[in-house]
Amino acid sequence: MGWMGTVHSRSYRSLIDRFYDAGIAPRLVICADNVENRLTEAQMRFGFEETTLNWLDVINHPEVEAVNITSPNFLHREMCLAAIAAGKHVMCEKPMGTLPEDVAVVYRAAEDAGVMSFTGLNYRWVPLVQYAKNLIDAGELGDITYYYGRFYGNYASDPLGMLNWRFLKEKAGTGVLGDLMPHVADMAHFLVGPITRLTSTRHTMIKERPLPVPGRGTHFSKGQPGDPTGQVTNEDYVGTMVEFANGARGTLEISRTIVGPKVENRFELYGTKGAIKWNFETMDELEIYLPDGSVARDGFSQLLAGPEVPFYERFQPGPGNNMSYDDLKVIEAYHFLKSIVDGEQLEPSFKAAYAFAQVHEAIMRSWESGVWEDVRDV
Ligand SMILES: NC(=O)c1ccc[n+]([C@@H]2O[C@H](COP(=O)([O-])OP(=O)(O)OC[C@H]3O[C@@H](n4cnc5c(N)ncnc54)[C@H](O)[C@@H]3O)[C@@H](O)[C@H]2O)c1
Repeated sequence: MGWMGTVHSRSYRSLIDRFYDAGIAPRLVICADNVENRLTEAQMRFGFEETTLNWLDVINHPEVEAVNITSPNFLHREMCLAAIAAGKHVMCEKPMGTLPEDVAVVYRAAEDAGVMSFTGLNYRWVPLVQYAKNLIDAGELGDITYYYGRFYGNYASDPLGMLNWRFLKEKAGTGVLGDLMPHVADMAHFLVGPITRLTSTRHTMIKERPLPVPGRGTHFSKGQPGDPTGQVTNEDYVGTMVEFANGARGTLEISRTIVGPKVENRFELYGTKGAIKWNFETMDELEIYLPDGSVARDGFSQLLAGPEVPFYERFQPGPGNNMSYDDLKVIEAYHFLKSIVDGEQLEPSFKAAYAFAQVHEAIMRSWESGVWEDVRDV
């Protein structure tokens, strides 16, 4: 019941409103956290019927049909496998484990058990990203030639940002590679297709941080000058050059310590007939270049999201009334529950998480070898 636990809980409540015509009404049966006051708060905010300090109680509860996992990464594998073994459908935040092997094991377990799965690759759900995907699929941009994806986040740019689980190899696995790259690589997979080869570099810019106070704060919490510090054991920055199966070339870059951008998750996509650019910080704007031979159209124009692009009208009645991050999680929760209700797996499921795990593994191999590496089965 940290940041994502509250966002996901809110989403299940909101979808009854935003997707009122879907015939899906989730019941928030029971939530778990190992910090007691987060449970009391969650019950007051979201109306959970029961709470527990032991997450196994959630999985074993006879009335729970779907389990939603938003704990730190090192608990994902164990929690997912327990939920799958109990025959429950599972939504798990990215990355689904500290290592690519964890994701492979969880993906295969869910496939074998025949349960529905879903993962938090939420930027796919931005209405203008969905619109961009439709433009690409309709061939409006021609063949895709080049893709630039990046996530420049500033959540760790202050050296006083606390040394929480995210900065520790044994709790998070990799640093930004597991935290931000799933979003960037998944967007590339979604819009361009599979990545086949890559070469990568990494860097840890801030090597020590103040020790956290147990149970206090989420990943935005800060310490004080002079607080005792500990070592950061995973990377702050990853830069990767990639080749796609369709022949396109690209660059994927991520940082959590950049100064200036806040959540600059952006892409530029170039085709033989046109181009598009998008940035999450202004997520309801899409820059489009679709020349028609006239001088007036020989430049980028800006499209503002409105009711004609997917999902927008569920949140706002008229163009230019901005949507928010939390709205994406409502669309995500809807697709997870729709998979269960219809008995048909929608994406991004654990299959999409596994596709990223293969990229994750190849990136780590490239850090060691210092050369280009193929993306392969994990
Ligand atoms: N999709 C996205 O955009 C996005 C954004 C942020 C985080 N995430 C992912 O969500 C997950 C959670 O991140 P967060 O930012 O919410 O972290 P957080 O630290 O805010 O929350 C984690 C929660 O887990 C609880 N917890 C820890 N150990 C526990 C245990 N043994 N039993 C029960 N509860 C326990 C903590 O008390 C805390 O409330 C991570 O995997 C992260 O990568 C995804």
